[in-house]
Amino acid sequence: MSKKLLIKNIKNLVQVRETSLETVSGKDMKVLPCINNAWLAIDNGLIADFGKMEDFPGITDWKDLEVIDATGKIVLPCYVDSHTHIVYAGNREQEFADRIKGLTYEEIANRGGGILNSAKLLRETSEEELFEQSLVRFKEIISQGTGAVEIKSGYGLNLEAELKMLRVIKKLKELDLIPVKATFLGAHAIPAEFKNNKEGYINLIINEMLPAIAKEKLADYIDVFCEKNYFTAEETKKILEAGKKHGLIPKVHAEQLSHTSGIKTGVECGAISVDHLEFCNDEDITILKKSKTMPTILPGAAFFLNLPLPPARKIIDNGLPLAIASDYNPGSSPSGNMNLMMSLSCIQYKLTPEEVINAVTINTSYAMGLSKEMGSITIGKYANIIITKPISSYSFIPYSFGSNLIESVYLGGKKFEL
Ligand code: NIG
Ligand code: FE
Repeated sequence: MSKKLLIKNIKNLVQVRETSLETVSGKDMKVLPCINNAWLAIDNGLIADFGKMEDFPGITDWKDLEVIDATGKIVLPCYVDSHTHIVYAGNREQEFADRIKGLTYEEIANRGGGILNSAKLLRETSEEELFEQSLVRFKEIISQGTGAVEIKSGYGLNLEAELKMLRVIKKLKELDLIPVKATFLGAHAIPAEFKNNKEGYINLIINEMLPAIAKEKLADYIDVFCEKNYFTAEETKKILEAGKKHGLIPKVHAEQLSHTSGIKTGVECGAISVDHLEFCNDEDITILKKSKTMPTILPGAAFFLNLPLPPARKIIDNGLPLAIASDYNPGSSPSGNMNLMMSLSCIQYKLTPEEVINAVTINTSYAMGLSKEMGSITIGKYANIIITKPISSYSFIPYSFGSNLIESVYLGGKKFEL
C-alpha cells in the first residue's frame, strides 16, 4: 500500500499551476502563482491535491497517512537541474590555485590541464570507484533541493571510458531516487591521442561511440562543446545530426568563451536547449525567438571563471523563456547548489526571485523533457518537494545567499535522508 502524506498549514505553497505548462517566457516569468496558508496531499508518489487551509475538505481515511505541520514554512517543487557533469573522478583544485595565481582557463587547457586532466583521471578510475565518488555529489544536490538532474559524459573521450561514465549515470538513475537524464558529450574536447587528428576523433564519435551507446540505450541527449579550440559550428552540426540518427536529442555548449555560432547551429539542429550564452548577441536572440530551443544560463561557471555575464535580462525582455542550471563540474563550476545559482541570477543578472524560480523549475523541466512530471505543484506530477525552514517569503531564499534554508526534501512523499 502506498504511503499518503498530508502537509498542512503551509505558509506559502509556491509555483502552483492548475495545468502543466511547457515553458514560461518574457513578462510571464515575473508571475509566480502561490497559495498562502495551504495544504498539499501526496499519494502514490504523486501530487494528489492541494488548496487553502480554509477550504480543507477534511480526512476520511487516516490509514497510512503521515501528517506534517508546516507552520511558518514554505513548500516549493524541487529544483530541476538540466545541465550537470557530476560524474567525474578526483577534482581540479590545483588548477583553481593556478588560476588564482594568474593563469587563464584557456592557458590551463592548452598545457594539457582542464577537461583533458579530468579525462586522464577518469580513465584511471574504475567504474565502481567512479560511481562511489559521483554518488556523493548526487546525494549532495538532492539535499540542496534538486529533484531531477541531467548528467553528461565527456570526461572519458574514448569508447571504453565514455561507456563507463554513461553506465555510472545509468546506475544513479536506477537508484530511483529522482529522474535522471543522460547526455552523451563525447565531443567535449579532443583527446591527447587525437591532438593532430580531430577528424579522426569525430569519426570515432560517429562511427563507434554513437552506435555502442545507442545499442545499450545509455543516452537521451547528445551535446557538443562548440568553441574555439574545441569543435566548430560545422563539426557540431555533423555530430548532432549523427546523434539524431540514433534517436538522441541535441543540446549545445554554446558561446561560452567566444562567439562560435553554437546557438545558431543548435537551433538549426532542433536542440532542446543551448547552454552558457556568455557571448550570445542580438542576432542570436532573434534566432532563438523563431525556435523551440530553451536558452539556458549557467551562473556558477560564469562566476567561477570570471566570464562576462550572458545577456539574461535581455533574453527575457525580448519575450523569450530562460532556464538556469548549475553546470556542476570539476573545472568551471564545482557547485550544484541551485539556491546559490538563484542568488547569483538575482544579484548579478538582475532577475527577480519570481523569474529565477520559474527558470529553475518549469523551464529547466522543459530543457530535459520533464514538463509533464516536474517543475510545478500540479495534480499528477511527481511529489518531489522542498520544505524550507521557517522563513519570511520565497524571496528570502535567493536573498540569503550561501545559507541553507532547506529543512527537508521529500521525494515521492518520502523524506530524503543523506
Ligand atoms: O560546461 N564548457 C565546457 N565544459 C564544462 C567545463 C568542463 C571542465 O572544465 O571540466 C562547462 O563549463
Ligand atoms: Fe557544461
